[in-house]
Amino acid sequence: MQQRKIIMAIETSCDETAVAVLANESEILANIISSQIPLHQEYGGVVPELASRHHLEQVNRLVDLALEEAGLTFQELNAIAVTYGPGLVGALLVGVSTAKALAYSLGLPLLGVNHIEGHIYANWLANPELSFPVLCLVVSGGHTALIRMYDHGHYELLGQTQDDAVGEAYDKVARAMGLGYPGGPILDKLAKDGNGEAFDLPRAWLGANSFDFSFSGVKTAVLNHLNQAAQRGEKLNLADLAASFQCSVVEVLVEKTIKAAKESGIEQVLLAGGVAANSYLREQLTKRCAEEGKKLACPPLKYCTDNAAMIACAAHYRLKKGESSDWYLNAVPNLKLYS
Ligand code: KG4
Ligand code: ZN
Repeated sequence: MQQRKIIMAIETSCDETAVAVLANESEILANIISSQIPLHQEYGGVVPELASRHHLEQVNRLVDLALEEAGLTFQELNAIAVTYGPGLVGALLVGVSTAKALAYSLGLPLLGVNHIEGHIYANWLANPELSFPVLCLVVSGGHTALIRMYDHGHYELLGQTQDDAVGEAYDKVARAMGLGYPGGPILDKLAKDGNGEAFDLPRAWLGANSFDFSFSGVKTAVLNHLNQAAQRGEKLNLADLAASFQCSVVEVLVEKTIKAAKESGIEQVLLAGGVAANSYLREQLTKRCAEEGKKLACPPLKYCTDNAAMIACAAHYRLKKGESSDWYLNAVPNLKLYS
């Protein structure tokens, strides 16, 4: 029988310090996440310097905790994986330095993983049977893209946002409504009580053949409604505004994904990234994929937002191909997955 490959992964790209231990592609032995959300809440967004310091305070403790939860010793690990970009440089450096020190001292291979690749692999973590080709809609706080994959580790970009990422637009709209941070989950909940047709907000199609996205127009339209109401001393129905914003954003995301799947002749659609946790997006994409005879896979909610298990899963497939990083691995804040 083949020996299990056990990977420890570290994720510190933004505001979650996370460490996971994964056996083979999907057996999660530990998946620990220390969220910094309460720390950044009073500033209405992530403060990079605070994030790095918090990662530094937490990371060694979480490594020990993950090992304890997995019931393993350092000697039983087969590789160390780490997110090396994209993200906040100081935050990434904490994970990269920790991973390098561990891998070097234990004599193990080091695997640098792209954070977005990790989000995509949350799908294989939950469903290792997924087969190629796939079309993946990546929707996170920093990225919005449609990506085609014909094999592990190969990414073909069909389109991406020209301005705000979709999660960024959710967070900015929620902040303007005074709803707090992070805004995505709050808006998602609020929109359930609203009427999505109450406000006529723009949809940025960017031309019939474009798979690119733009969310700054709809964001600005919401801000204009809020400002004009404030000037008139009126109160807007925020649930209606949230639902209308969500309808505009989700309609564009879903229809472009369906069009790309149809034109590429791809049956398997994947959803990935923090905004993949959005209930309306999941509902609408499920409905449209069913109507068009496409299969849809979405990671379970707990693997949509940042975690290290998804990083370990992406590393598993790289390790299987014999890949590893060298000791010069560094944090790359604007690391690209596709050119
Ligand atoms: O992927 P992620 O955890 O971090 C990045 O890699 O950026 O995504 C975080 C983003 C935030 O903008 C957050 O507001 C959004 O995902 N988000 C949501 C939901 N849950 C998280 N947006 C809409 N609806 C949600 N339920
Ligand atoms: Zn993320």
